Amino acid sequence: ALAKSLRISTAPDDLFDDIDEKGKEYPFSVLTGKAYSEDVDGIRDFDDAICALLSTYHNEDLFENIKRYRTLLQRHIRRGLYEIRSSWNRSHDFIVYLQEELFAGLDFSADIELSPTIDATLIEALKDISVAAEIKNKIQGPRIDRYALYLPNIQHLDQLKRGLEKLAFRLGLQQEGVFIHATSEPKVVAMDIPRSRENWKTINVNQLPKWAEQEQGNARLPVWLGEDVLGDPFTFDLVDTPHLLIAGTTGSGKSICLHAILLSLLWTQSSENLQLALCDPKQVELAHYEKIPHLYGKGVVHLVTDVMDMLEQLVEEMERRNQMLRDAGVSNLTEALQQRKLQLPRIVLVIEELADLMMQSRELETPLVRLAQKARSTGIHLILATQRPDSVTFSGLLRTNIPSRIALRVQKNTESRIILDESGADQLLGSGDMLVKIPQVSTAAIRVHGAYISQDDIKLCLRHL
Ligand SMILES: Nc1ncnc2c1ncn2[C@@H]1O[C@H](COP(=O)(O)OP(=O)(O)O)[C@@H](O)[C@H]1O
Ligand SMILES: [Mg+2]
Repeated sequence: ALAKSLRISTAPDDLFDDIDEKGKEYPFSVLTGKAYSEDVDGIRDFDDAICALLSTYHNEDLFENIKRYRTLLQRHIRRGLYEIRSSWNRSHDFIVYLQEELFAGLDFSADIELSPTIDATLIEALKDISVAAEIKNKIQGPRIDRYALYLPNIQHLDQLKRGLEKLAFRLGLQQEGVFIHATSEPKVVAMDIPRSRENWKTINVNQLPKWAEQEQGNARLPVWLGEDVLGDPFTFDLVDTPHLLIAGTTGSGKSICLHAILLSLLWTQSSENLQLALCDPKQVELAHYEKIPHLYGKGVVHLVTDVMDMLEQLVEEMERRNQMLRDAGVSNLTEALQQRKLQLPRIVLVIEELADLMMQSRELETPLVRLAQKARSTGIHLILATQRPDSVTFSGLLRTNIPSRIALRVQKNTESRIILDESGADQLLGSGDMLVKIPQVSTAAIRVHGAYISQDDIKLCLRHL
């Protein structure tokens, strides 16, 4: 728990002082081993080490103030346990879980050793699939290495395309795939090879406030999702999308992606400019947002009947706005805002786990389709997250009206096709690795590594805001 808490770069909040319902402190001797040091040989006393760690983390001399040290230690332990509880699920193997949670994504950005043996192995592996290539250049992104490969013989490009699966196998990659792209240089392809998890750089939510500062006063809906394959920030404008589907298997990072979007919106928009209509059948993911002034309607809705009411209310609002736009002689809300003819907030409808809701009631489809077809010009945008974007949850009519998609990792390439109309999402790395397809931004899907946002980050962000 301590390690988990120390991995978060912001100090634990004093909220954690009374997080335990029983109000009891975790015994100091258990946390540090202090009590055992005198009587039992061989059992270490970690007190000084932990005090030194916390002194460094908080940049104050805690040896001088033991009371504060103990308070901070309790906060860290509580925050760590809270984080563990919120990310733990029953199917986890505890050891694997610890490894992944504690060591994955450590910031090794101070240059990971790229051993020359990897280069040699790559050339060998290429030879195995009958491709002769020369490594011209290598760039290190947050999770992948991008090689620029020069192919003297252009016939080898087809061999390379056909041999990608074998190549991945040869390099010891499992489901994660090797992706290639053409470059503007003649005979040079870019090849993205994922690194192992312990060599990833986590994309931290700390970048959000700085980005948001530049976007203050942006009357549209800018969103910061994370970084692209080369580590440059990836942003888009929700007004352009104008509706968005987020899909991927359970545990692929849909909810965290939603949080990145929501926090981007909340950091950049006042409640006069933006309202959020939030639907969360699971009742846990969006609970943090229950108290924000931006909420549309009575609160975060959970029950399918309430979701239905909310959708119908939004359809009415859409009709009302359409009339207002017509009366004002403008074609959409953006124009009306620019010309100061109307002052209406944009509304973003977010549905977590659309499949769950659709299974309870197919009726939801009617108002959803109407919104998807006609709401964009009135400043109402939809973000639908779902695990299964099959024809039941995502009918033809919804599909054609929601052209922007974010695919996180899925199991099969058929699922990838359903989401993106192309394969690829089946070869992603999981943990917020995604393919983003926004027709307004580019015709090809762009690979993005999503920002990691913990429960604590959300709480702190919202508290700050
Ligand atoms: N951007 C990310 N960076 C690192 N790890 C992530 C990221 N997104 C998700 N994860 C990991 O995946 C887990 C599941 O994410 P979550 O958003 O809850 O998935 P889903 O909603 O698709 O089930 C998280 O607890 C976290 O460990
Ligand atoms: Mg989820």
